[in-house]
Amino acid sequence: QMEISLGAVQSQEELAEFWQAYLGKKGSIAGLMKELGKVSAEERPAMGKFINQFKAYAEQRYQEVRAEMDRKELEARNKNEQVDITMPAVKRPMGSLHPITIVKDQMVDVFAGMGFEIYEGPEIEDDDHNFTRLNVAKNHPARDMQDTFYVAEDIVLRTHTSPGQIRVMDAEKPPIKVLVPGRVFRSDSDATHSPMFHQMEGLVVDKKITLCDLQGMLDEFVKKIFGSEVKTRLRPSYFPFTEPSVEVDVSCFECGGKGCSLCKGTGWIEVLGGGIVHHKVLENCGIDPNEYSGLAFGIGIERIAMLKYGINNIGLLYENDLRFLKQFKD
Ligand code: PHE
Repeated sequence: QMEISLGAVQSQEELAEFWQAYLGKKGSIAGLMKELGKVSAEERPAMGKFINQFKAYAEQRYQEVRAEMDRKELEARNKNEQVDITMPAVKRPMGSLHPITIVKDQMVDVFAGMGFEIYEGPEIEDDDHNFTRLNVAKNHPARDMQDTFYVAEDIVLRTHTSPGQIRVMDAEKPPIKVLVPGRVFRSDSDATHSPMFHQMEGLVVDKKITLCDLQGMLDEFVKKIFGSEVKTRLRPSYFPFTEPSVEVDVSCFECGGKGCSLCKGTGWIEVLGGGIVHHKVLENCGIDPNEYSGLAFGIGIERIAMLKYGINNIGLLYENDLRFLKQFKD
């Protein structure tokens, strides 16, 4: 028979062992009861009473030790789980928007203020939308202006957001005033070109839309993005889907137009292309060019971001280096 002293019990397990050894069905107190038969009839009542008293005493002590043990355990647990509400909170590092997203959102804001709505077309386009209906026929030399990624015969990764013009005019009747932001793809790669980049197309079709409307809108846009002191200038250019076509320059915000390395001494920086929607493009979409006219423009979002933030290598925009990205907290 093992000996367990209640005073020395340290754990719930030892306490259970104590119960089994003395108070349980096979414990020594139950054993004593069984021995009662061997005691004489005269002594038996007194002996029985004594054993019962002893059992009650042992049970009471057992309960006391158990209650004390429970109390100590609870105390320890409470102490462990205590929350110090005066501790400073853990600061979670804040992320930031990608510079392309920041600039895109700003551009959308400016044009939304002029009443433009957003349309997003597919990144995989057919030849028809990307070229043919934009007045770029199969053997048109202008196809060489953009090095196209072909997905299949007559299926391309869109080389510009201009197919969005066709999709919008197919779906809506004038008046139309939409922005088409999105990713575009060209097989071209150097410090200022990436095979994937972003454009923002603008299209307005209504009665009596002229080049003045284009200049007014873009002047407003440029001032909101680069500063109110910046001036715009239109230069004649060529795109198959606009006639006349223009290249839009802004006065250099680095040197104020005096000439520096950013503007290569010219005082002007080229920022985007646009023009009056070619009558053939309107006709291709079932819009009568005698009743309506349109303006369109295409802005390279990377180009605007690089100019605005002085980023000299387009690759930095896609490396996801946090040291670079953290600098653009809007
Ligand atoms: N799509 C032309 C480009 O990617 C830009 C443009 C858009 C020009 C709309 C005129 C009108 O170069």
